This record gives sequence, C-alpha cells and structure tokens, in this order.
Amino acid sequence: MRVLSGIQPTGRFHWGNYFGAIRQYIALQHHEQAFYFIADLHALTTINSAEDLRTYTWEAAVDLLALGLDPAQATLFRQSDVPEVTELTWLLMTVTQMSLLEKCHAYKDKIAKGLPADAGLFTYPVLMAADILAYDSDLVPVGQDQIQHIEVTRDLAQRFNHRFGSEVFVLPSPQVLESTAKVLGTDGEKMSKSYGNTIEIFLPTKKLRKKIMSIKTDSTPVESPKDPETCAVFTLFKLFADDTAQDELAARYRAGGMGYGEAKQALFERAEAYFAAANERRAQLEANPQEVEDVLQAGARRAREKARAVLDRARAACGLGR
Ligand code: ADP
Ligand code: TRP
Repeated sequence: MRVLSGIQPTGRFHWGNYFGAIRQYIALQHHEQAFYFIADLHALTTINSAEDLRTYTWEAAVDLLALGLDPAQATLFRQSDVPEVTELTWLLMTVTQMSLLEKCHAYKDKIAKGLPADAGLFTYPVLMAADILAYDSDLVPVGQDQIQHIEVTRDLAQRFNHRFGSEVFVLPSPQVLESTAKVLGTDGEKMSKSYGNTIEIFLPTKKLRKKIMSIKTDSTPVESPKDPETCAVFTLFKLFADDTAQDELAARYRAGGMGYGEAKQALFERAEAYFAAANERRAQLEANPQEVEDVLQAGARRAREKARAVLDRARAACGLGR
C-alpha cells in the first residue's frame, strides 16, 4: 500500500502540524511504502519572497528528518522536483468542474472576506489531486481540514477514469487521527500560522517557556476548582502525557489550590522533554546540509520514476502522444 502526504513550507512547523500530520507520517513509514513531500508549489500561493520560500522549504526538510522521518524507510522530496505532477494537473483540470472548486474552503474563505483570489488558489485542489494520483496513492494521512481536498481528488479520479473508459487512477482515502484532530493554539482557537497563535516545535528553551506562559486562561482564582476539559493548557498537556499523568493533573485542577501558572510549567517540562531528542538530531543535520540535500535528491529520483509511469498511463488513456 502506498501512503502519501505533503506539507506546505509556509513557516516553521508548530505543534498542530506535528500532532495533526507529521507524527502520523512518521508512524506510517514503518508499515507502508511512504512518499512525503514538501509542497513548495502550493506554498507559492501564499509566499511571495524567493528567499522565504527557499528557507522554509529547507527548514521543513531538516525538521521532518529531525522528527524521525527516516529516508531509509520513506521517500522525502520537494514537490517542484517532480515536474510530471504539473503536467498531470493540466490533464485533471480538463475534468474539473468550476462549481466543485468554488466550494473549496481556501478559495471560498478568501472570497467571503472580500479578498482577491488568484487562479493558483482557485485551482490549488487540482494540483493537490495530481500530487496524490501521480503516485497511485492509497492512503493520505492529513489533518481534518484537508479531507475536502481528498474528496475532490476522488471526484477527479473517477471522472477521468469514467471519461476515458479505463482504470487510470487509484482512488485514495484520507486518514485522520481523531484524538488530536484539532490542536488548540495559545488563544484557545485552532492552532494555525494564519491566526498567530502557534507554538513552534523547535524553539529555544526561553522562547518555548514564554510562549507556553502566554496561553490564554480564564480568571478563576488560584484557590477555586477548575475544569481541565475547557482549559487550553490542559488540552495541550494531554498531547504529551500518558493517562496517569493526565488524571493526576486533572485531579489537581478539580481540587482547587493550583494556579494556571503551575499547569503551564508542567506543560513546558513535558514539551521540552518530548522534543529533546529531535532537537539534538536537528543540530546534527544543520551541521551537514549536504546530507539533507542528498536525501531530497534521491527522493525526487524515486518519486519521478513513479510519476512518469502514471503520467504516461494517463496520457495514453486520453489520447496524447502517439
Ligand atoms: P497552518 O494552519 O498553520 O497554515 P497547514 O495548513 O500548513 O498549517 O497544515 C499542515 C498540516 O498540519 C495539515 O495536514 C493540517 O491539517 C495539519 N494541522 C495544521 N494545524 C493543525 C491543528 N491545529 N490541529 C491539527 N492539525 C493541524
Ligand atoms: N494542501 C495540503 C496542506 O495544506 C498540503 C498538500 C499539498 C498535500 N499536496 C498534498 C497533502 C497532497 C496531502 C496530499 O496541508
């Protein structure tokens, strides 16, 4: 079975990206044929500085490897290193109904806010469908917000298959980890770069502590009992703690006598320990940039080979070439 996912290099990765997506990529690499890529072409719909795009793409590769993505088990590459995908995007565009794209959230939300949208944003889901279909992907691990795009992918694959009378594309399924489907940010809303409420995975200790201390809490006095389930600090703590540790902290919330500062300190300690090994690996990778580049290039070669075969199949099916 082929597992595939992509992640946009639009900033440094945060806890939402890790628990919502990256952790699943890493877990799946041991069981399945995994392909993971850094979606730099998609990022172009939001980033318009060449330097930023290059830096974020690089940091994304280093972060993923540091977090445990193993190039001996999974194929890691840059989306733009596989030009077959952009050709496939065009083929899929010819079976894409405008009304389908008008319903897609990235575009719809922008229009609803009265902001101008470009054709890149509008056709974003078609490029994503090509990403998935180009490698005969069966399973696509993603966060909740991406499910709609997998549905679009299935729709386009079925239309193409139906129109050209053959089984050109494999139909993919999404996989979401329900328990952490929505990681909360420092303001208690969904953690997202666009809301400025993120806690990045790789932060120097002092900055990490400061971010955690800035998590919004209510004004219940120290001595009063508190409800852990409605508190963003506790919700985040759960990501890093086993059942016993969760029960212990929850009991302290309910008993009263504990201020939110103490809960934040507990969260800080857990988070720091949780990512300590990854921090060390990251420092080693940063000292060996060529090693990272070699991984990306070897990954692109493997990915291109597969994408070429699928593209040839699609081209032949729709009458392109001899
Ligand atoms: P952002 O919202 O910060 O721009 P992205 O849209 O680039 O993040 O998300 C990359 C991946 O991480 C996607 O699969 C997305 O579903 C997942 N993800 C992002 N934020 C969260 C969150 N708060 N909770 C769970 N998953 C998330
Ligand atoms: N749109 C995805 C996101 O923002 C990134 C992405 C691009 C992707 N192509 C993909 C995810 C293909 C899964 C499969 O998170």
